[in-house]
Amino acid sequence: MCGIVGIVRRRVGVARDLVKSLKKLEYRGYDSAGIALLSNGKIEVIKGVGTIDKVVGNLEGIGDGYAGIGHTRWATHGGVSPENAHPHLSCHGEVAVVHNGTLDDFEEMRSELMEKGHELKSETDTEVVAHLIEENLKDRDPFNAFVEAIRRLRGSYAIVSMMAGERALFLARNKSPLVIGLGDDGNYCASDVAALLHLTRRFIFLEDGEIAVLTPSKVEIWRFADGRLERVDRKADVIDWSPQLLDRGSFEHFMLKEIYEQPHVLKKIAESVDYYRKFSTKLDRMLEDGSLTIVAAGTSYHAGLIGKFLLSKLAGVRSEVLIASEFPEWSSHIKEGDVILAISQSGETADVLEAVRMARTKGARVISIVNVPGSTLTRMSDESVFIQAGPEVGVAATKTFTAQVAVLYVISSVMSGGNPSRELLKISDMLYGSMETFEHFAREVSDLFKEKEHVFFLGRGINYPTALEGALKLKEISYIHAEGYPAGEYKHGPLALIERGTPTVMLVPIDENLRRKALYNLMEVRSRGALTVTLQPEGADMPGDESLEVACTEELLSPLAYAVPLQLMAYRTAVLLGRNPDKPRNLAKSVTVE
Ligand code: G6P
Repeated sequence: MCGIVGIVRRRVGVARDLVKSLKKLEYRGYDSAGIALLSNGKIEVIKGVGTIDKVVGNLEGIGDGYAGIGHTRWATHGGVSPENAHPHLSCHGEVAVVHNGTLDDFEEMRSELMEKGHELKSETDTEVVAHLIEENLKDRDPFNAFVEAIRRLRGSYAIVSMMAGERALFLARNKSPLVIGLGDDGNYCASDVAALLHLTRRFIFLEDGEIAVLTPSKVEIWRFADGRLERVDRKADVIDWSPQLLDRGSFEHFMLKEIYEQPHVLKKIAESVDYYRKFSTKLDRMLEDGSLTIVAAGTSYHAGLIGKFLLSKLAGVRSEVLIASEFPEWSSHIKEGDVILAISQSGETADVLEAVRMARTKGARVISIVNVPGSTLTRMSDESVFIQAGPEVGVAATKTFTAQVAVLYVISSVMSGGNPSRELLKISDMLYGSMETFEHFAREVSDLFKEKEHVFFLGRGINYPTALEGALKLKEISYIHAEGYPAGEYKHGPLALIERGTPTVMLVPIDENLRRKALYNLMEVRSRGALTVTLQPEGADMPGDESLEVACTEELLSPLAYAVPLQLMAYRTAVLLGRNPDKPRNLAKSVTVE
């Protein structure tokens, strides 16, 4: 995935802003980091293994420059080592490159360059780009040297390069996100807008196959058309996210802050029903001519499953839900006129974008539910709607999950002529008033989970996907093995795993008929010695070693009510075990590789 950033200014003094921007991108990867600064015509690089803080510290003893590029890494080609950290330099240190993505055929280019006498120091695919540019500089100007290097590349890339003596940044994009920020005393670029909000709110989103050159006063964009370069004119978009949204404030972690933001986000969605009504009407019309397939990854996939349930229950709409990375193998039936509903927080997940590309080639229409404005998915879709959750920094999705579910609820409800606003506001109020109780409960439960190897989450109906999400949250940030299961299916296999003391979380249905069945399932695990934790509606009185009453009376909204204590349970367990929930090992928030 990796995060990349670049700044070019009229005056020297980019280092601090560069590092500040880079830190906003740490959620994309954090195994190594580095920056390159250009001053007095020369490039200086500081890079290494570990977080940005560890590598560049407080910048003491580090020079400054009028241009700089930075990188925070999530390793793909080449292990985690100082040599493999970006930026990469050419032999004579005159070209520096940062890259997000993966390049095909780089071994071949590497051998070719070595035959020409280049010395490559790392195992990465990225390093070849610096040497390719250097090779081209022998008989070309910097711009053409860069263009020719990019012309050779296959695969996915967002690349930013600096060359000694050039007060400019050279950018190229194919299938990895890259946005340009327009400033008054300089220009910027980064993997996403969040990195640049402290510098500007005006952005241009590069498209696949485009190249750009940024100087302190100019932004020029080109596109390859039939192998030739042509200039592109692009207007800037203004993004109204405030930089304060990216501050942790007094919260210990972003994840906790984002959990606490949920009542507010749900309120905002409840107050925007008219905005979602327009989208819902378009979707309804599109479905007159084709079938509906929901596509998503990770937590968004769980929201998609809940969406399928809501569309079916409330609007009588039939749909299927496919995991984005599996879409190519499972979608032979998709045909012209069908509708793909892509759900993605970032709008940049490579698996989702690839599924959408493929569906488009078959003539399907694409609509999307997204959080990040201007993201690639929105530009690949016929229609997009935003969940309005604001930037989410914690790697584990929290507020964007409940926002996706709430938007799917609103869309399904208005399709059937319902008025979802009142019910959604009730849930938002309930959450506002319950956070303290949920916190207390989460702490008790985390004490119970902390020494366990496995935890199971069971749900029925609409809360089967909520159980999957509860398990995902716990495993991804606490590293305790967790599995979500439909409560009724559990006895067909996984019940064999229950031993004395195995924690099992039951999401108790509100519907009485379903609840009766859930009670049988609960008794099945309790009688085998499981420690049971129940989240249940008020007055349900289900047996549990730990029980939380949640004041929700609407089965269809119960995923919103249950998700919040589940997130807190995962969060408190991770903290108790000394894990950093904002930076779980091996994971990144925005996964831009397939
Ligand atoms: C990554 C993140 C998950 C997220 C998934 C899909 O794996 O760690 O939290 O749910 O990507 O991301 P998207 O941005 O498409 O919703």
